[in-house]
Amino acid sequence: MVKISPSILAAPLANLAPVLGELEQAAADFIHLDVMDGHFVPSLTFGEEFTAAVAAATKLPLDVHLMVSVPEREVPKYFPLKPFYITFHYEATSAPLRLANEIRKAGSKPGLALNPRTPVAAIADIVFAFDLVLLMSVEPGYYGQPFIANTWQRLDGLKKLKEQHHFVIEVDGGISDTNAQELVRGGADILVSGGFIFKGNIRERIASLRKVVE
Ligand code: DX5
Ligand code: ZN
Repeated sequence: MVKISPSILAAPLANLAPVLGELEQAAADFIHLDVMDGHFVPSLTFGEEFTAAVAAATKLPLDVHLMVSVPEREVPKYFPLKPFYITFHYEATSAPLRLANEIRKAGSKPGLALNPRTPVAAIADIVFAFDLVLLMSVEPGYYGQPFIANTWQRLDGLKKLKEQHHFVIEVDGGISDTNAQELVRGGADILVSGGFIFKGNIRERIASLRKVVE
């Protein structure tokens, strides 16, 4: 079963409570939280305090995506919130395996994110330590960007890598009901979607994603 992880960065952040209720009613699988530090990426979004407030207001599991320059410092701040996934970027750390172990010890599942220009082959020797690989299909930093076409060949490479390992593939950026089906055929297990879901009727948009992937 394909999972849908709505990126609330694209939601009305000052009026999130009803949105979280709608996501539960629409049976979203996760809440995707885009933490940006204004350094690894140009924008600054929110951190552990905001994430804690979201955690307190929803029953849905958290899918935390850290776009930060110093994941060694930022990752542990999320441990008390017990996210389902904590994902950091391959490009941001020299000790991905240690960090993955720390996340696992804290009771969450470690995820490794890859920017569009990072070769999939770069993670071949470390992917065994992760439960999830997040394939960026836009340059990280903003929601609402167009899907980058090199994702297709990258997804193919990741699917081959998956044959020898146990991770799930999450694709993030520019996903709508026009490309979701092909992404799932290509090997995606979790689809992140922000602009598509929140710039329309939330329940209808989630339903239309489900319809094309089932
Ligand atoms: C981009 C973020 C994405 C983004 C998704 O840096 O990691 O999660 O918010 O939003 P859409 O679906 O609008 O590209
Ligand atoms: Zn994201």
